[in-house]
Amino acid sequence: MKVTFIGCGNLVQAIIKGLAQSSRPMNEFYFYSPSQLKAKELASRYGGNHLDDLQGHQSEIVVLAFKPQQLQAGMNNAHRVTSNESLVVSLLAAVDLATLKKHISAQAYLRLMTNTSCAYQKGVSTYLSTEQNEKTQYWLDLMKKVSSLYQMQNEQQIDYLTGLNGSGPAFLYYFLQQWINELNTHPLLENISLEQKQSLVLETLASAYASLQAHAEPTQLISQVASSKGVTLAGLEKLSQQLDLNAVMQACYQRIQDLK
Ligand SMILES: NC(=O)c1ccc[n+]([C@@H]2O[C@H](COP(=O)([O-])OP(=O)(O)OC[C@H]3O[C@@H](n4cnc5c(N)ncnc54)[C@H](OP(=O)(O)O)[C@@H]3O)[C@@H](O)[C@H]2O)c1
Repeated sequence: MKVTFIGCGNLVQAIIKGLAQSSRPMNEFYFYSPSQLKAKELASRYGGNHLDDLQGHQSEIVVLAFKPQQLQAGMNNAHRVTSNESLVVSLLAAVDLATLKKHISAQAYLRLMTNTSCAYQKGVSTYLSTEQNEKTQYWLDLMKKVSSLYQMQNEQQIDYLTGLNGSGPAFLYYFLQQWINELNTHPLLENISLEQKQSLVLETLASAYASLQAHAEPTQLISQVASSKGVTLAGLEKLSQQLDLNAVMQACYQRIQDLK
């Protein structure tokens, strides 16, 4: 099955890196990016083929991986390699199935929102497709190698959850960076190296994740750490006053509406 990636930026690089680690043969993959640089880099690093030109190339699965802001030009390129037998897979935020159908005529369409942890085979993806057929199954089987998959009931669910599985890793990185900055500027820790401070923060994350994997119930774990009138509770009270996750998710959702 030929799988052609239109756009080869951060997300495609993560997916291909993850697939390469799964020992998946790469010869069915074709990469195209207008500047050619990233397409060539992918093909030379992981195998597969880069396309200098889309002329005369047709693909069973066409994966859209440009920015939503590049929609018209990207769709024009995708259109050239798509036939009425193709499956169009969109990795784009904020672009719904109706918009895909308006731009490109294909047999089936699949929208998938994932994240760059596919590089470590730890992606988290939501998806919705217009039909189940051999090609959609083929694509989902590929993605299963690098990501968990959650089928959604409608596209609003994909849009809303983009604030979690699409953007959420960046929020967690931000939180951890704030923690590192805090340790780094505190006078009590002047004599401790930055490396050790980074390690302390990341190891704390890993230890919390180990407990979560064993129990999977955050509230119960919190109660084990936070005793009445204790240290943790003092911090938690402050955190709950400042962290407004609903506002964060709404900001993401609103941005998706603005991009439409
Ligand atoms: N990054 C993430 O964590 C993430 C997570 C979820 C969803 N997404 C979605 O994934 C998509 C790609 O994101 P990204 O972060 O990978 O973007 P990116 O790193 O900016 O890469 C964009 C790619 O699109 C190519 N491109 C630009 N104009 C094009 C055109 N007219 N035709 C074909 N390709 C074109 C660029 O080519 P050149 O290399 O030649 O410039 C580049 O390879 C976006 O729609 C985004 O919403 C990303």
